[in-house]
Amino acid sequence: MVAPVARPAAAADGYDAAMRPMRTVLLWAARDRWLRERVPRLGFVRRAVRRFMPGEDVEAALVAAEAFGREGIPTLFTRLGENLEVIGDADAVADHYLGLLEELAARGIDGEASVKLTQLGFDLDEERTFEHCARLAQRSAELDRELWIDMEGSPYVERTIAFYERLKRSHPNVGLCLQAYLIRTADDVQRLLPLEPSIRLVKGAYDEPARIAYRDRRVVDANYVALAVTMLEAARTQRVRVGLGTHDVDLIEQVASHARALGLPRTSFEIQMLYGIRADQQRRLARDGYRVIDLIAYGDAWYPWYMRRLAERPANVLFALRQLLP
Ligand code: FDA
Repeated sequence: MVAPVARPAAAADGYDAAMRPMRTVLLWAARDRWLRERVPRLGFVRRAVRRFMPGEDVEAALVAAEAFGREGIPTLFTRLGENLEVIGDADAVADHYLGLLEELAARGIDGEASVKLTQLGFDLDEERTFEHCARLAQRSAELDRELWIDMEGSPYVERTIAFYERLKRSHPNVGLCLQAYLIRTADDVQRLLPLEPSIRLVKGAYDEPARIAYRDRRVVDANYVALAVTMLEAARTQRVRVGLGTHDVDLIEQVASHARALGLPRTSFEIQMLYGIRADQQRRLARDGYRVIDLIAYGDAWYPWYMRRLAERPANVLFALRQLLP
């Protein structure tokens, strides 16, 4: 049995308390339209973002993926962009991903796409978003791949899960991201397990209130391990693709030791990390026999995504500021 989620008596540890104001500001900045229009023009920010993406165009992502492939590391591709305001733009996004799938097949790249529903018109026309995802899932299936759906902020969570359930019925090859900081996620895992899902478990990247989310890092981590173990226990008797979307190597090792105790091989789960973060660990884990997948983001709409990367590790702000120096 999985140990119950530990809930420390104190609301937040010292590290969280010190970092939270900075994190809150960065996550607010991620949503601010005025900043979104101006910050990406700043040269030093453009230089800093390169740490997390090989380039804005898809070719840079493909070349990076080929290099990972030579080291036995497959790739997830995300073209950055979210909350479209014109539904017609979603058609171009879907066409882009279809072209990407063809390119992956033609170049022999072991890769899959990961999309945000609001990038495919979820705010404007859910039916059209569904049609786009169905097309992408269909083509992915023909090419023997899965299509991943990211999880966005809490207003989208219930709708995204219901959308996934519907898509999964007609297209079994789809995966969904779930966030360990949300209190509801334990129930969502139970809800999805009968569907034989593919789940990428992440800690969660948005600023969510205490009413619905654990805000203490230690509680999020404990919940993360408990959720991962629940999925691995299910994986003993049914199909569940378990993706650990985290750079937290301690957590990965905790989950790995639970997997061992359950008699599961190293390949019973996969580790998904972002391009440019803990690259040394990605390679080390792959060499140690784990299935490691690198998520490469690209595109020019990187501003909110980059702000969330800064918020995850405010020390990254110093790195960005250093790009101001000659
Ligand atoms: P944590 O933040 O504790 O970091 C552990 C260690 O990793 C840090 O000590 C540091 O060394 C390193 N690290 C982490 N973030 C870093 C950064 N930005 N810069 C430099 N070093 C860093 N979220 C979401 O809400 N919806 C989604 O769909 C996704 N999708 C997704 C896919 C994949 C493949 C990954 C890896 C992550 C996501 N996320 C996400 C983001 C996720 O929710 C979370 O915000 C980040 O992964 C950071 O949390 P960690 O689990 O890495 O732990």
